[in-house]
Amino acid sequence: MKIKKITKAVFPVAGMGTRFLPATKSVPKEIMTLVDRPLIQYAIDEARAAGIREFIFVTSRGKSALEDYFDVAPDLENTLRKAGKKELLAVLKGTNMDSGAIAYVRQNRPLGLGHAVWCARRLIGNEPFAVLLPDDVIAAEKPCLKQMVEAYAETGGNMVATMEVSPEKASSYGVLDVAEDMGAIVRAKGMVEKPKASEAPSNLAVIGRYILSPNVLNNLNKMKQGAGGEIQLTDAIAQEIGGEESVYGYRFRGQRYDCGSKAGFLQATVAFGLAREDLQREFSDFLHDMMAQQKAAQ
Ligand code: UTP
Repeated sequence: MKIKKITKAVFPVAGMGTRFLPATKSVPKEIMTLVDRPLIQYAIDEARAAGIREFIFVTSRGKSALEDYFDVAPDLENTLRKAGKKELLAVLKGTNMDSGAIAYVRQNRPLGLGHAVWCARRLIGNEPFAVLLPDDVIAAEKPCLKQMVEAYAETGGNMVATMEVSPEKASSYGVLDVAEDMGAIVRAKGMVEKPKASEAPSNLAVIGRYILSPNVLNNLNKMKQGAGGEIQLTDAIAQEIGGEESVYGYRFRGQRYDCGSKAGFLQATVAFGLAREDLQREFSDFLHDMMAQQKAAQ
């Protein structure tokens, strides 16, 4: 079986981010910062590490800050260069994209994640591609998408990142029905979007990293609006089950933070803050004091 290399990734960033209003009234969710880097930078770095060369953004109104973020900033660079601030200059360079490496398509109405991916169909063409949701931030020794690309080189087909969740939490995710469990990789025989706790077919929840065959785009082409009036990506992937190309779940190694929710964003801020050598000491002392004060007040 000849498996094509994954070089294109889609970043759906057209959602309204209502859980972060009023901040997201004028700031795209993906520009919100974990320590000193916007969420989108974590996703781009992960994609680069996995060998992605073409970055496709699905955007909407009010997201121009995202487009500007990846542009070269000559004035800022000159100022830093003149001031001899080499480290900051290197940090800034990490945000630049090669000319032509980044493309933007517009989703005119927020009709769901499936619809957002479908909007990118002409740029994706007839080849397998990755999808990364920037609000899922994953701390991992080996970046999550790289782990998946390596696993995909063995399996082909379609692959979704999965993590184990409790039955009560399953109703917030797409959940896999497992046909065959091979350890890190499972083969799915079904996929259910947001099942009730009692109806979840397994404890394996799908999170925001995917490697998909172009067939999924054909499925999206034919789809009507699903649960919640949105076109669900899960449904289009599930249609591949039983066909020529299997759907696999991949149990990634790492810690995922749901930065689309307030609690998840705060947890990530603490975790990434503590992981930073330059901040670790001051920040952990502060957290320690805060916890002690809270305990004393109880
Ligand atoms: P979410 O379900 O988190 O929705 O989307 P949201 O609009 O971003 O945030 P809330 O729920 O209103 O707070 C998951 C991912 O899918 C993208 C989002 O930008 C996010 O990356 N998305 C969602 C789209 O691009 N288009 C859509 O129509 C819906």
